[in-house]
Amino acid sequence: MIHSCSEERKMMILWSLCLIFALSNSILVVIASPSQHLCLPDQRDALWEFKNEFYVDSDVPDYVKVTEKWRNNTDCCSWDGVSCDPKTGKIVELDLMDSALNGPLRSNSSLFRLQHLQKLNLGFNNFSGILPDSIGNLKYLSRLRCRTCNLHGEIPSSLGNLSYLADLDLAENHFTSEGPNLQLVLPKLRSLISIDLVYNQFKGTLPSNMSSLSKLEYENQFSGPLEIGNLSSPSKLKSLIVGENNFNGPIPGSLSKLGLEYLDLSFSFWNTGRDIVDLSFFSHFISLRDLDLSYVVCS
Ligand SMILES: *[C@@H]1O[C@H](CO)[C@@H](O)[C@H](O)[C@H]1NC(C)=O
Ligand SMILES: *[C@@H]1O[C@H](CO)[C@@H](O)[C@H](O)[C@H]1NC(C)=O
Ligand SMILES: *[C@@H]1O[C@H](CO)[C@@H](O)[C@H](O)[C@H]1NC(C)=O
Ligand SMILES: *[C@@H]1O[C@H](CO)[C@@H](O)[C@H](O)[C@H]1NC(C)=O
Ligand SMILES: *[C@@H]1O[C@H](CO)[C@@H](O)[C@H](O)[C@H]1NC(C)=O
Ligand SMILES: *[C@@H]1O[C@H](CO)[C@@H](O)[C@H](O)[C@H]1NC(C)=O
Repeated sequence: MIHSCSEERKMMILWSLCLIFALSNSILVVIASPSQHLCLPDQRDALWEFKNEFYVDSDVPDYVKVTEKWRNNTDCCSWDGVSCDPKTGKIVELDLMDSALNGPLRSNSSLFRLQHLQKLNLGFNNFSGILPDSIGNLKYLSRLRCRTCNLHGEIPSSLGNLSYLADLDLAENHFTSEGPNLQLVLPKLRSLISIDLVYNQFKGTLPSNMSSLSKLEYENQFSGPLEIGNLSSPSKLKSLIVGENNFNGPIPGSLSKLGLEYLDLSFSFWNTGRDIVDLSFFSHFISLRDLDLSYVVCS
């Protein structure tokens, strides 16, 4: 009896030790996690320098001043608009949309040191300058949005190096296409699914050999014939929004083979040799669910 009792006591002591050990471990974890710095120092410094490249409008509400709320001595992965890879701590997403940032995006901007960025949204800020070639250094970008950024000049050719880019939104800027860039760059973007370039100053013909697109918004001042129908088949294009352009030719019959579900030609001008749109033409679009022909002008 005595023998088994001491056995029991030994076990009890062992269990207690185990319990104390387990508890102290979980307490350690609880204590350790808030001060655990996920953010990598070089990434934090780049982000901090980036913030300081711009001045923030003082007359906007406080909630808009996102970068002003960043604190240098805290984990940058917890800063508003910043997301890190939980395993590596590298910054993979930066969303500073509508943060009242003012100033040019320089080619030596610290932004381009955030080499692991996958999603970047700088829309609705005022960069009043060009989109520098260095954007091509952010080679893991799958999303690039800079809508209403007061950008002008050309689309940099380095954009063509962004082989993961699926979502490109540079709408409502002042981009022009004096050079061949749009024609050369866009077809290189093999992963592109959605592109929105509306309200820029692009002219000339549209790039025609883009195979992966499912959504294309293209209201601009294109003047050449619409050659979207030349998209390599099978085309994934479901939504085509090409209103407000000045097309020098008919609405191409090849469009009907794309399997479009949404087609918006509103406010566009077609030089077709006839002054009305032939509605029977659209009976060949068997997948079409939505068609916008408002204010279409033919001559
Ligand atoms: C931010 O912190 C880093 C590292 O602690 C330091 O090198 C840098 O000077 C700081 N910047 C500012 C503006 O305080
Ligand atoms: C970036 O380039 C500008 C001129 O374009 C220069 O004034 C500035 O010092 C450069 N910044 C760095 C960090 O090299
Ligand atoms: C954008 O920045 C430019 C140059 O700094 C300035 O002239 C312009 O007024 C700004 N626009 C807005 C809407 O703040
Ligand atoms: C694209 O990447 C290649 C290889 O990294 C480089 O040689 C080339 O200069 C880049 N092109 C542009 C336009 O940046
Ligand atoms: C797309 O077409 C343009 C003009 O026809 C051509 O210069 C370019 O090499 C083509 N790009 C690809 C990837 O096929
Ligand atoms: C698109 O197809 C039309 C008609 O087949 C052809 O005339 C035109 O040259 C093609 N455009 C391109 C860029 O391949």
